Amino acid sequence: MNAFGIYVHWPFCKAKCPYCDFNSHVRHTPVDTLGFAGSLARELSTLAQRTPGRTVTSIFFGGGTPSLMPPEAVGHVLDAIGKEWDVSADAEVTLEANPTSVEAENFRGYRAAGVNRVSVGVQSLNEDHLKALGRQHTPEEALAAFRLAAKIFPRVSFDMIYARPNQSLDQWRDELSRALAEQQGHMSLYQLTIEPETRYADLYAAGQLKVPGEDLAADLYELTQELTEKAGLPAYEVSNHAAAGQESRHNLLYWRYGEYVGAGPGAHGRLHENEQVIATAMEKHPETWRQRVDAQGQGLVQDEVVPPAAQAREMLLMGLRINEGIDLARHRKLAGKPIEQGRIDALVALGLAETSGGRLRATAAGRRVLNALIAELAD
Ligand SMILES: C[S@@+](CC[C@H](N)C(=O)[O-])C[C@H]1O[C@@H](n2cnc3c(N)ncnc32)[C@H](O)[C@@H]1O
Ligand code: SF4
Repeated sequence: MNAFGIYVHWPFCKAKCPYCDFNSHVRHTPVDTLGFAGSLARELSTLAQRTPGRTVTSIFFGGGTPSLMPPEAVGHVLDAIGKEWDVSADAEVTLEANPTSVEAENFRGYRAAGVNRVSVGVQSLNEDHLKALGRQHTPEEALAAFRLAAKIFPRVSFDMIYARPNQSLDQWRDELSRALAEQQGHMSLYQLTIEPETRYADLYAAGQLKVPGEDLAADLYELTQELTEKAGLPAYEVSNHAAAGQESRHNLLYWRYGEYVGAGPGAHGRLHENEQVIATAMEKHPETWRQRVDAQGQGLVQDEVVPPAAQAREMLLMGLRINEGIDLARHRKLAGKPIEQGRIDALVALGLAETSGGRLRATAAGRRVLNALIAELAD
């Protein structure tokens, strides 16, 4: 069966973390959660008209903080999806959860609504570091929420950020080892990026944020690979680690450059229409998005054909992130020409890429310098 995914964006958070540049907003008056869920359902119904006959294989509630949605709101969105499309009996339904005790109270309700996987944003097991990251939970609270999630949901991901300000190799070794003792088959381990226009970017520019330099960051990455591999959780993507069979099917769909619908403020989609790939994006500002949906059934601000050569670039960008790499024939068809053999040979000789069975992959060494590798192959 062809994979077909649905991404649903929930744009609200209790507080803005100083490192985060995702489309997340803090409101100081109560959010009309059920009203927003109704607008999500309406937008999904509009998008369904463009994707008839598909069978949904994965659904992902991302954010922002979707664990601030009341379970009825999640149920309402899932019911709307079920009315508009066939949903595969074994569809993966993931929700990103922040591990505060209040949010953990929703877990049973989400499970009853049909969520079967949660991605728990533990981020750190160090109290001071959690405070510095602006998180609203302690390590104990996060672990309690994760353990509860592991009891309720068939699949859970333990998510962390590393290469944080003032983080040493020994500190991360200890923290990651403790996390590995808790995980249940999947971890997302993101290296902190200083994103423009965040509080961290300002602090960094003012010389007030001491983040690991290149060498320490590389050592932290190596240590992460070593410890996760030892624990039976090798990387299947740059920042994602899983035991065999526990990979996130929804995220694999992105990396395999498959078809997905994106609903909610700022959500992106890639639709397959009339043998073309269409890039869609929704209005980012939550209340403006909602007004648009109420007025015209959707909050679209981008709806453009992706020319085949751009598809080839996107496919390369996504596909080299995962271990399985890209199908060279599929890439050639889109690009209208093969990747020059000389370039591939040079990267293979450097130990950065490998080819077999008609596929091109970045090696572990290649994934460490992925941006440079992609730049070398794409043009
Ligand atoms: C945007 S959050 C949404 C889920 C949830 N609100 C949370 O905080 O876990 C998804 C993931 O992106 C990560 N993330 C956000 N900004 C980041 C940054 N600048 N560098 C690395 N990871 C980041 C978060 O740590 C989180 O695990
Ligand atoms: S990291 Fe998560 S909780 Fe923090 S602002 Fe971003 S989306 Fe919200």
